[in-house]
Amino acid sequence: MRVLMVAPPGAGKGTQSALIARHFGIPHLAIGAKLRDNVARGTELGHLVRGYLDRGDLVPDEIVMGILREGLAAAKAAGTGYVLDGIPRTLEQAKAAYRIAEELDMTVNVALHLKADDEEVTKRLLERASREHRSDDNAVVIRQRLDLYRRATTPILAWYGQRGILVSVDAMRPVEQVGREILAALDAMAPLVDHVPEDMRRSVDLSDLGVWLDRYHHDNGPPAG
Ligand code: AP5
Repeated sequence: MRVLMVAPPGAGKGTQSALIARHFGIPHLAIGAKLRDNVARGTELGHLVRGYLDRGDLVPDEIVMGILREGLAAAKAAGTGYVLDGIPRTLEQAKAAYRIAEELDMTVNVALHLKADDEEVTKRLLERASREHRSDDNAVVIRQRLDLYRRATTPILAWYGQRGILVSVDAMRPVEQVGREILAALDAMAPLVDHVPEDMRRSVDLSDLGVWLDRYHHDNGPPAG
């Protein structure tokens, strides 16, 4: 299974990517975490990118596309799929990522869109700030990250939608519920993804499923088990 995440900061890309990676036994390529690790270890790359991370700005493409290329090549060598967390963030990155993946015969099967509103994700990120010390988890930089997501990243949703590989889920619900829905969708798709011709792929919006299930369980009692 080859998956990438598209979502605003705090929607759960890292949380749900880790779940998907464990479930399918595939590597989790988290660009932001890799960059932060370099900052923490004081590497040359860390020095280069620190300011971008602190400000909530995008790190230059040549750096992140290099990390992506390495990650995809390693997954290819290991004969696995992958889950990409944090890349692509612009249409240019999405197109460059497609070219790299195509060269490796590793193009993505599913672009997973986690839908969550600004108020909810801001609350989550400020809660995390009280437990952890990410330099970009403060009110000013969170606003900048959300603004950047809206301006630079959301245009890629239409691109994946047209390719018929966009799967949208409601990420406003508790972690476990969101995770169950994602794994159910990916499990259903996994046997098919490499066999459906490109022109027959269809995007799917599951984001109302939670509301329907809640309504159903309200009317019919909780699910068994
Ligand atoms: P990155 O690390 O990717 O940060 P981000 O996009 O801002 O996302 P977060 O990690 O804050 O949130 P998330 O969606 O992963 O949610 P999470 O699961 O952590 O990137 C950091 C920086 O690196 C960027 O700003 C940029 O500078 C640079 N960068 C990265 N990629 C780049 C690229 N491609 N190009 C250029 N620059 C790049 O959850 C957040 C919190 O919410 C956690 O506390 C979690 O426990 C909680 N939570 C998660 N889900 C739920 C839920 N359903 N209910 C309640 N709480 C939840």
